Amino acid sequence: MKKLIKSKAWKLLQRHQQKMQNKTLRELKTENYNFLQTIELKEAGIALNFAHNFCTQKTLALLDQLAKENRLQVAIQALISGAEVNRTEHRPALHTSLRNMSLDPIYVNGHNVMPDIQAVWDKMQKFSDLIRAQKYLGYSGEPIVNIVNIGIGGSELGPKMMLYALKELKTANLNFYFVSNLDPEQIHECLKSCDPKKTLFIVSSKSFETHETLVNYSIAKEWMLKTSGENNIENHFVAVTSAVEKAKVQGFKQEHIFPLWSWVGGRYSIWSATSLGLVIAIGMQNFKEFLTGAFLMDRHFIETPNTRNIPVILGLLGIWYNNFYNWNTQAVIPYAQLLVLLPEYLQQLHMESLGKHIKNNGQPVDYATGYVLWGGVGTNSQHSFHQFLLQGTTIVPCDFILPLQGETDEMMANCLAQSEILAYGHGAHSPHKIIEGNRPHNIITLNAINPRSLGALIALYEHKIYVQSIIWRIDAFDQWGVQQGKKLAQRILQLLRRRRGE
Ligand code: F6P
Repeated sequence: MKKLIKSKAWKLLQRHQQKMQNKTLRELKTENYNFLQTIELKEAGIALNFAHNFCTQKTLALLDQLAKENRLQVAIQALISGAEVNRTEHRPALHTSLRNMSLDPIYVNGHNVMPDIQAVWDKMQKFSDLIRAQKYLGYSGEPIVNIVNIGIGGSELGPKMMLYALKELKTANLNFYFVSNLDPEQIHECLKSCDPKKTLFIVSSKSFETHETLVNYSIAKEWMLKTSGENNIENHFVAVTSAVEKAKVQGFKQEHIFPLWSWVGGRYSIWSATSLGLVIAIGMQNFKEFLTGAFLMDRHFIETPNTRNIPVILGLLGIWYNNFYNWNTQAVIPYAQLLVLLPEYLQQLHMESLGKHIKNNGQPVDYATGYVLWGGVGTNSQHSFHQFLLQGTTIVPCDFILPLQGETDEMMANCLAQSEILAYGHGAHSPHKIIEGNRPHNIITLNAINPRSLGALIALYEHKIYVQSIIWRIDAFDQWGVQQGKKLAQRILQLLRRRRGE
């Protein structure tokens, strides 16, 4: 394959950008009059409006050409069918199989993984039903009511975000807590609210060797033994991991271990038993709705031509701005308090996946890969960083996430007002009051905040990231940089302790 920056589509896009750079969004609005810039995925309750972008039919055609020159369709098939897309770790990235509601077989090394996935669904269903019915008992014979998830990064952010977003569906008699930080302040604070007799810890770690998680697990165990004065505390600890043997060494019984697989990336594991706490909260039926939303987005991603494909368009627009306009930041702003944790979740998904400077062929890249993703919830964000979006000198393309049902009229009015001003600006006599506009953004609408639309939304961002990784020719599924920091911290810790004579 030709070098990316020397490829035909890349050069055409560079030339096209020179013609586009002085256009205003208002001019484009008139010129693009008949250009359909809303795509709806009705069944999943989600739609993309990308009308406020520096994007004409010509732009989209050239971006489509870029995708085709980089064989995006082949890459999508490779992802879904279980090919070794995580090249540096020599494995597939089969998060899509976890929501394969068709149950059609998917093979890893000749083994159909669907029956294994269904077995874990069954195990989660039985376990969560017991707890939800108050029939899962602790050492004293009393039912479990407090559920503490111990895990970090991908083993925390997904279920935590979803539990908050779907709190209306949560069973009333259960309380949920998340503990992740190595700073013991967090777990100590959490344990103050928990009665050991009624507390279950979900120790969630794909590798089962993450230092933070193992330290918090040992604090939890010590607390349980000390405060209970009992030894029969097995029921109070379950593990979620792909390293089943390591969990057994740590004292977990087979029946208390919920497996996941090496071919599910940590930050892509929201669809797996990593969401056990969420399943306990909302029930398996609602969780399957969540999986269904993602499955519908997968079908759309696989089957739809690039220029009508929501994740492909979002991915390509991100490249358009990052590589051709040199804008290196993007904000995600949900206009719903329930989605307050979404930006943090997407930050890990996006930045751990795309923070790479070496291509799949081992050579360094000679173009930008990935931009800083950040954000906050509207309308709070209007009173913190929108000033920067509206009148700052750095252009920040935004994704607004706008639910159409719920507490919406006020929220919708504010979101649409921001969209209008960002795009078309505001004239004034005093220079300091002028808002220039021409700040591109997308509006992603959700019919309502429910398991299905959220499943589609998260799968949308996963696929957007994959599209970008394919064009940029990088591995979206490894995170070697992070590994080195973990090792060095351990070495420094030993030095510190030695110096203190411990
Ligand atoms: O530090 C990076 C990371 O490996 C993330 O990718 C992952 O989500 C997190 O650590 C936790 O890892 P584990 O689930 O193996 O404990």
